[in-house]
Amino acid sequence: MERWITHGISGALCFFLPLICLSLVSAQTSTQQVAQRSGGYLELQPSSERRVEEQGRGFVVTCRIPAGLNGANLRWTQGSDRRPINEANGRNIQVMKRPVDKPTSVQLVFNNVSKADENLYMCLATIDGAEVQKEFQLTIYTGINYDKVELAQAADVGKDFTMTCDVQGEPKPSVTWRRAGESLGMYGHDKYTVSEKGLTIKNISRTDEGLYDCDATQIIGHDTSSFKRKAISLVVNYPPEFTNTEPAIAYAFLGGEVNLTCQADGEPSPSYDWGYDENGGFSDMPLTETKNRDDYVNPSRTTLVKNMTDQSQFRDILCRAKNSLGEVVRRYTVKQIDKPVAPSFEFRQVGGHRLELQLTPSQQTNNPLPTTGYRAIIRPSVGGAWENATVIDFMNGTRHVLDSLRHNTEYDIMIAARNAIGVGDWSDVKSVKTLSVSASTSLVPFTGVLILMSGLLLVRA
Ligand SMILES: *[C@@H]1O[C@H](CO)[C@@H](O)[C@H](O)[C@H]1NC(C)=O
Ligand SMILES: *[C@@H]1O[C@H](CO)[C@@H](O)[C@H](O)[C@H]1NC(C)=O
Ligand SMILES: *[C@@H]1O[C@H](CO)[C@@H](O)[C@H](O)[C@H]1NC(C)=O
Ligand SMILES: *[C@@H]1O[C@H](CO)[C@@H](O)[C@H](O)[C@H]1NC(C)=O
Ligand SMILES: *[C@@H]1O[C@H](CO)[C@@H](O)[C@H](O)[C@H]1NC(C)=O
Ligand SMILES: *[C@@H]1O[C@H](CO)[C@@H](O)[C@H](O)[C@H]1NC(C)=O
Repeated sequence: MERWITHGISGALCFFLPLICLSLVSAQTSTQQVAQRSGGYLELQPSSERRVEEQGRGFVVTCRIPAGLNGANLRWTQGSDRRPINEANGRNIQVMKRPVDKPTSVQLVFNNVSKADENLYMCLATIDGAEVQKEFQLTIYTGINYDKVELAQAADVGKDFTMTCDVQGEPKPSVTWRRAGESLGMYGHDKYTVSEKGLTIKNISRTDEGLYDCDATQIIGHDTSSFKRKAISLVVNYPPEFTNTEPAIAYAFLGGEVNLTCQADGEPSPSYDWGYDENGGFSDMPLTETKNRDDYVNPSRTTLVKNMTDQSQFRDILCRAKNSLGEVVRRYTVKQIDKPVAPSFEFRQVGGHRLELQLTPSQQTNNPLPTTGYRAIIRPSVGGAWENATVIDFMNGTRHVLDSLRHNTEYDIMIAARNAIGVGDWSDVKSVKTLSVSASTSLVPFTGVLILMSGLLLVRA
């Protein structure tokens, strides 16, 4: 929050409020207390004729008969009807005389002042037989506060919206609005209107979202002003929108899974439902089919992984995104495709600890998804089990190396092609025996092989 308090004419006030500035120039020429040269006079300390104080403050004003003058009957009164102030007057105004018997100074002690204390205060005495007086006007204000202002407001897209800024303060502060340093609603702008209620923004669009400054100015008495600024944030609500609206096609194998992700923008954040198109309407998917639904990893979207256990599962799936302003539905067409056909392969360059595979991809007749790589599983032929076999994923390519093998050991190997949705059918099993160490050392190292093995092969004894 920014705050200025200005006393008298001030550069800051003139800068923000040129019109008020002009009016203050005239108020500025306040007459200073001029001692009455002829006869007696009283001294006030502080001497100002106007005193502006914030509610709750405490302060002292002293009235004194100047030294050397012969005065008596020194006293304070309140109001233009000059009601005497004495100890019994008010809880929060006290009078202190010095010396007590024949006072030459009398103090008015204010405590926790409130609006009720606003008044004309007059000090009176008789000096050299003549009645003299000196007065000041007390003005009380309550500073600007934003306690009741809603600092976060929300508007619906396409509607008109009035942002409020219910600032408190006495005298009542006046409010002006700014956004990104520019004053709003001043020059007969169509988009913005400023009224008692607040700042009305026509036909809210998403670009209206952001911070707005609520500037409050309080003119206190004749020559004092107070200024504060507070940013209010405007959030624009809009119905959900899919960033990608064309129908989605998802592929799955029979017996495999389909993995769907649904994400929409929207304010408030949309909630999601998965369902089927039944009788032309959205029908919620049974809970048993949404067990593998995940909205927690990233709350702005939902993913659904569904087992495609039988043919009847291959049907359109709908995702509905909904918030208080509306809903949208996206259709996912789930198409059944064949698993990638297994490649054929041969062994090349069999050594003591490594061997190289040469793959021949199968011709995929009508598979819309390209092969993205291969998976090999390998087990020792003696004592190995497929369930404990080592799994190695290769990237796309035809030559692959298996290493860290045991020498003089026979292995069984199977290979399948992989695509974006899973692993295809397995090839026939082929067996190969690594060389004994003495034989393998004589092997000419194979050069020029692109080694694409993605993992370290660990082989069981
Ligand atoms: C000051 O006065 C107000 C009423 O004007 C009262 O609510 C508040 O409690 C007082 N504060 C103190 C410290 O006496
Ligand atoms: C509101 O603004 C939108 C663009 O944000 C515009 O298409 C529409 O016509 C406007 N409506 C009115 C009533 O001005
Ligand atoms: C589903 O797909 C997403 C992204 O495509 C992926 O992060 C997630 O692991 C997949 N889930 C399953 C169970 O395959
Ligand atoms: C999908 O099948 C796997 C095993 O094949 C099972 O563990 C899982 O619970 C099934 N998911 C659903 C939603 O039925
Ligand atoms: C993998 O390689 C084959 C040819 O070997 C090619 O047809 C296919 O498009 C490649 N896949 C990718 C994802 O690059
Ligand atoms: C697979 O490995 C586990 C633990 O190493 C073993 O208990 C199990 O018997 C093995 N399975 C077969 C079929 O050998």
